[in-house]
Amino acid sequence: MSNTKITKVIMPVAGFGTRFLPATKCQPKEMLTIVDKPVIHFLVEEAVNSGIKDITFVTGRGKRAIEDYFDYAVELEQVLSISGKRDLISSIRQVSEMGRFTYVRQKEAHGNGDAILSAAHLIHRGEPCAVLFGDDVVDSEIPALKQMISVFEKYGDPVVALEEVPHNKTNLYGIVSGKEVEKNVFQINSIVEKPSVKNAPSNLAVVGKYIINYEILSILKRLRQNFSEGRELGITDALKIYLKDKPIYGLKFTGKRFDCGSKIGLLEATVHFALKHKEVNQEFKAFLKKLSKKLKYFLT
Ligand code: G1P
Repeated sequence: MSNTKITKVIMPVAGFGTRFLPATKCQPKEMLTIVDKPVIHFLVEEAVNSGIKDITFVTGRGKRAIEDYFDYAVELEQVLSISGKRDLISSIRQVSEMGRFTYVRQKEAHGNGDAILSAAHLIHRGEPCAVLFGDDVVDSEIPALKQMISVFEKYGDPVVALEEVPHNKTNLYGIVSGKEVEKNVFQINSIVEKPSVKNAPSNLAVVGKYIINYEILSILKRLRQNFSEGRELGITDALKIYLKDKPIYGLKFTGKRFDCGSKIGLLEATVHFALKHKEVNQEFKAFLKKLSKKLKYFLT
């Protein structure tokens, strides 16, 4: 059991987003929108609704829009105030007040482990922290991270988020093997980063949500010192070493995940959240109904 409360989350957002070019030529992929909120907003909501307010973004060149998004927009507020749009003012203010934001820069892209290390100086010795990658948006009653925190509080060991993926997609993820110790909670035996489909130990994939501890950060530090120039450092490299001596748990969380780092994932998320959106859902449903008639024609 762990008494150490998780108060900080590291969100690496320095990646180029080449899968969305040209849209990401001059804007961060994390700022692509799902209906009317950028993808990164959903991730911050997940952290905040899990009780975590200290949010550190690991950014890079070309990511300033993220800082502006979570800052006050004073000029915009003035314009909205002249036209009496109080609701809009409070909705954009609320974005800046969701958490306490810190920004560190990863100067060069050397892997997601290296990105996490760029923020490691903000984590105290003995302190656990959460890591959320900027792509995996989950719609669930209880935030996926909160579900993971419950597992951490019970076992006191690092926790990764798991999802079963189609066997032919195992080469896109870190894949684990493990023993189910209670419903949907696995004690992990092994983890392999992006194995070939035939070598995957299972179809249980790690999605971009982790609860790590200071020891994992220390392993990352050690690995970076020993890695040759240019070699990418991944979080999985550290998890593998940690696993040799200590347990790591995996939680098959409840909720619907969207990989918003891929075109199809972002499209699916857009449809999913549009169908739940107070302002547009009726009109959008009507549109989909019409479309489905046409689709029947095209698909047969
Ligand atoms: C990272 C991790 C991988 C994990 C994936 C989830 O890969 O290294 O183990 O399955 O995130 O999104 P990346 O997407 O950075 O290539």
